[in-house]
Amino acid sequence: MARETWATRFGFILAAVGSAVGLGNIWRFPFITGQEGGSAFLLVYLLFIALIGFPAILVEFVIGRRTERNPVGALRDLGSGIWQYVGWLFVITGFVILAYYSVVAGWFLRYMLIGITDGYAAGAADPEAAELLFGSVSTGLDSLLFHAIFMAFVIAIVAAGIRSGIEVAVKVMVPAIIVLLLGLAAYGFTLDASTEAYAYYLSPDFGVIAENWTSILPAAAGQAFFTLSLGMGVMITYASYLGEDRNLAEDAGIIAGLDTLIAVIVGFVVFPFLFAAGLSPGDGGAGEIFVSLTAAFTEIPAGRVIGIVFFAMVGIAALSSAISILEVVTSYLVDEWNLKRVPAAAGLGVAIFLLGVPVTVDLIFLDLLDLFADGVLLVLGALLLAIFVGWVIPEVARDELEQGIGDLGGLGTAWIWAVRVPIVVVVFVSLYLGVLD
Ligand code: PHE
Ligand code: NA
Repeated sequence: MARETWATRFGFILAAVGSAVGLGNIWRFPFITGQEGGSAFLLVYLLFIALIGFPAILVEFVIGRRTERNPVGALRDLGSGIWQYVGWLFVITGFVILAYYSVVAGWFLRYMLIGITDGYAAGAADPEAAELLFGSVSTGLDSLLFHAIFMAFVIAIVAAGIRSGIEVAVKVMVPAIIVLLLGLAAYGFTLDASTEAYAYYLSPDFGVIAENWTSILPAAAGQAFFTLSLGMGVMITYASYLGEDRNLAEDAGIIAGLDTLIAVIVGFVVFPFLFAAGLSPGDGGAGEIFVSLTAAFTEIPAGRVIGIVFFAMVGIAALSSAISILEVVTSYLVDEWNLKRVPAAAGLGVAIFLLGVPVTVDLIFLDLLDLFADGVLLVLGALLLAIFVGWVIPEVARDELEQGIGDLGGLGTAWIWAVRVPIVVVVFVSLYLGVLD
């Protein structure tokens, strides 16, 4: 049977944007920005997206389109020696990330339902009540149940295949995310607190960068890879279904641009909410956004409806990302082991569900997995791919990039050097600083 391909170029771009836009933009980005000092972090982050994120997307695209294989098969085809085994790292990373990603996505679904059935007042009466509510959502049976529900959606979409599963789903989901988000941002603009919130968000304090660069740098690099779904073969896998040559650089630009735009707009939504409720961003961790947002949703006008819309949007965004992760590991079993897509997706989905169970028992596992995945696995994966493409197969890579574009001349050389040096240097420094930490 011939390998599947995307039906349209638009479908491929939407799938990649759907993968990129997720919890990384809406849950991780605001809390890391808060933690790392607001706009100071934003500035470094934007720089990294352009300098290392965009070239790194192309690294994965050329590998995928050249080989038309899953990441394990792709690297085995192109590389020799140790390179043949790098694809394995991606399979492991996929397991780790999706396991906790699904648990967190389940919390958003649960909070959406709470808004529909009860509203957020009970949980926000006082800080303690909000903490208690978050505790009951994030651990125990509730958490387990919504983790299971979320994984069931993920499995169903991936099992249905590239065209009739993923491509159909993202054509609905990605426009929905954008419409809901723009609505929320327009609403945030009407709040009195927005002026103060925007000021916090948008005026970079260079003193903060100078003082905290040892933590801002690795955080910004990790976030850049995480938010663009890089370092674990998602973009290799998606590009492997292209089936025809088109301008990959243009596609990568659209994907990086939209993901960044959406993350930045999320800041225009979340920070006014927090300031309106008299809360300061950044002093909490992963759970903070739930606690403070439920408080905000009881303070602001029409907060209940806004809350439901917000949590629904996050749920959709998480789903369109989660399917890309399951697709990486599914494509491996389908390509390499000749398994049928449905049992492959279902079996892997259940295994990943089980790996996520400890996270529903104790949040310590969330921090551990998130730190390990983002601080080590993705960064390491991106580093190895950059070394491979930049130093081991630069001619092949450049030739592949030029398919569908034409002779790139100096730009092609610039890309190879961007892959050879900035990515490698930034990742080494980040890994080093991260380990020191
Ligand atoms: N890019 C996704 C987000 O921002 C997360 C992700 C990471 C998805 C790695 C796939 C692979 O939420
Ligand atoms: Na993202």
